[in-house]
Amino acid sequence: MKKKLVSLLTVSAMTMAMLVGCGETAADTATQTAETVAETAETVADTATEVAETVAETAGNADLADKKVGVCIYQFADNFMTLFRTELENYLVSQGFSKDNITIVDGANDQATQTNQIQNFITQGVDVLIINPVNSSSAATITDLVVGADIPLVYINREPDADEEARWSANNWNVTYVGCDARQSGTMQGEIIVDLGQEKVDLNGDGKIQYIMIEGDPENVDAQYRTEFSVKALEDAGWTVDCLDDQVGNWDQATAQQLVANSLSAHPETEVVFCNNDAMALGALQSIEAAGRKVGEDIYLVGVDALTEALEDVLAGTMTGTVFNDHIAQSHGAADAAINYITGAGNDYYIGCDYVKVTTDNAQSVLDSLK
Ligand code: BGC
Ligand code: CA
Repeated sequence: MKKKLVSLLTVSAMTMAMLVGCGETAADTATQTAETVAETAETVADTATEVAETVAETAGNADLADKKVGVCIYQFADNFMTLFRTELENYLVSQGFSKDNITIVDGANDQATQTNQIQNFITQGVDVLIINPVNSSSAATITDLVVGADIPLVYINREPDADEEARWSANNWNVTYVGCDARQSGTMQGEIIVDLGQEKVDLNGDGKIQYIMIEGDPENVDAQYRTEFSVKALEDAGWTVDCLDDQVGNWDQATAQQLVANSLSAHPETEVVFCNNDAMALGALQSIEAAGRKVGEDIYLVGVDALTEALEDVLAGTMTGTVFNDHIAQSHGAADAAINYITGAGNDYYIGCDYVKVTTDNAQSVLDSLK
């Protein structure tokens, strides 16, 4: 390109010299002019090349290999968040980030620890932060810290409240939330029970559904909504419910196992066990079996997440159903949002995702999709 331009200008300058060509002086002048034009052309071409190189370099900044991502997980010892963070890291690498530039830290379920980790990431000057808060109620403080350092922020899994989300759009901040609406998962849990028919579920035939509820961390909106909306789905179907026990299992299998063991011995008339997640449903199942009960025959059990083990239980009939909490769509969505901040494309303030109801009908296909 550069050469072509130079030779073109040289030729036209020489043509000019030939045309002018009456006498040596004119020809000399023309040649000199041609040389000057050619030189100028070369300078212009050089400048153009330099500009092109600068543009290419700027574009090269959008290359993700040298970008640093900080990821804060509320607690590594959480089955669902383990699936989430593993997929998140793999996907970030597949999109061009270097594994060495992705740092994922364990908040150990302690907000002070996590806040420290966020401060460290800010000091290190990461390009983007992906945060699964320990306490959703600390989101305002976290946002202020991160926005104050001019770092874009992607919240995952634990949704900050409406007031907090409103601040992001009001201030045009580079802050978003990627996740699902927990109301939907609760409703689906309830619908799985309703779909069985009241005759079948009301085992003692008293016209009411006796149930126990095992909740995740009550500070978490997922726990609040699943607890509320699972039962609401039964009521919306015109069923009468009777809550025998409502306990906090903190998303944890062993805790839930203990709680359900106690509940079942105090309330053998239990017909349905609702667990806010699968880890706790797996614990519940251990106690149901230890009590000599059989899911699908004399008790019903539902969870949320679609952990592999839970899907296998659904297929075996030892769990009535679960709800797929799509960690693949959510982790990819979070990574894509991070990339959009880095490239300057930006994001909406809320990036949603759908849950999927899982029963024996589709458990195998969900299982296959996760392989
Ligand atoms: C999942 C739980 C998990 C929790 C962590 C929920 O969406 O269903 O399994 O423990 O997130 O915040
Ligand atoms: Ca009953």
